[in-house]
Amino acid sequence: MSRRPIIAGNWKMYKTKDDALAFIYAVNVKVPEKEVVESVICAPAIFLRDLVKREGEDLRIGAQTMHELDEGAYTGEISAGMLKSYGVEYVVIGHSERRAYYNETDESVNKKVIQAVHNDITPIVCVGESLEIRELGTTNQVVKDQIIKAYRDITAAQAIKTVVAYEPIWAIGTGKTATPEQANDTIKAIRDVLKTLYSVDVSEQIRILYGGSVKPNNVDELLAQSDIDGALVGGASLDAESFLTLVNAAAK
Ligand code: PGA
Repeated sequence: MSRRPIIAGNWKMYKTKDDALAFIYAVNVKVPEKEVVESVICAPAIFLRDLVKREGEDLRIGAQTMHELDEGAYTGEISAGMLKSYGVEYVVIGHSERRAYYNETDESVNKKVIQAVHNDITPIVCVGESLEIRELGTTNQVVKDQIIKAYRDITAAQAIKTVVAYEPIWAIGTGKTATPEQANDTIKAIRDVLKTLYSVDVSEQIRILYGGSVKPNNVDELLAQSDIDGALVGGASLDAESFLTLVNAAAK
């Protein structure tokens, strides 16, 4: 089964409006055709409206988080329906920084995945282990458990439209990458649990990305692995040339 690769940049809390617009103008017409690779930039919420207006044919804009409910008295929050109404098509859910600093749990991640699919937004569902878990040797078990909880009440038809990002926490922003074999091994374990939850066919269709210090100099060997369908990229997505190198690598 050939799955269309995705390269999703996660800008986190970087850039000003002018930097963000300059980036979009620089990469818009240079990214590969969307039929070959899905190029996505997940930007801070305040930039989304401007960036969606300027996204070209082959570049898509995503959000970095959203609320788990459709509406309510939650000062400062943004719902899936609000994102959708501005043309946002992807949202990162359960990033380890959100889990660590904003109390996101497997349960809230599950509610957000449900909100995203109901609003026809592609969730990029993040899972991953701490260094302690990696050293204990229970990584695949822990990550499988995160997947089971994230996909509660998600039907097969909905699951096919989701994307998973496996991001070992110890590899994020540290310059330490999981070896391509380590990353592929855990991603295969994720595909296995999706097979158990749904079917072989469904598990073969879901794109599973690797994230954690993906750079122009290591992207080729990661993407060469059998089960890695792309990357969720922080630091290396901030620079237009570097982002273009990554999406071009995925187009090969
Ligand atoms: P990094 O971040 O590429 O800077 O390690 C990845 C992420 O947090 O998604």
